Amino acid sequence: SGEPSWARERTLVTVKPDGVRRRLVGEVIRRFERRGFRLVGMKMLQAPESVLAQHYERHREEPFYAALLGHMRSGPVVAMVWEGPSVVRASRAMVGLTDGAEAAPGTIRGDFSLHIRRNVVHASDSVEGARREIQLWFRSSELVDWADEGHRGSL
Ligand code: PPS
Repeated sequence: SGEPSWARERTLVTVKPDGVRRRLVGEVIRRFERRGFRLVGMKMLQAPESVLAQHYERHREEPFYAALLGHMRSGPVVAMVWEGPSVVRASRAMVGLTDGAEAAPGTIRGDFSLHIRRNVVHASDSVEGARREIQLWFRSSELVDWADEGHRGSL
């Protein structure tokens, strides 16, 4: 499309098993759509151990690593790729602080979680991290390149 590359930044968002169990998938999607971001990939899956191990590689030595992987394997997750200007930073702001008990009201975690492990969603923390995570979770054929010419929303 004719959009500049800065408008096509992408990030990975996952709804974690607690979010799926609590029927929060639609709520999460609604917030990203309302903001004007573009959904370019989405699937539900039982996350493979190998994907989780690579995804959380840099937290391997953390005391919470086993609990985190156990949680991520406790049920299906919904993985999504969202696109738009500054989507990485905006998504982190929309998601809120890691610990639901500390997250600001108005953020996803601040509105739906009081827990550091059952914190509903993940969002990539940098543009480079997002690139790595998107490649890990999606084949390029699973990502849809579409432009919304007629869109009159916030983009
Ligand atoms: S980050 O990405 O460095 O800003 O986040 P951080 O707060 O360091 O946490 C890294 C990921 O570990 C998860 N986490 C936990 N999981 C289970 N139990 C405990 N105690 C815990 N503490 C942190 C946190 O949610 C981050 O995972 P994602 O999937 O990005 O949310």
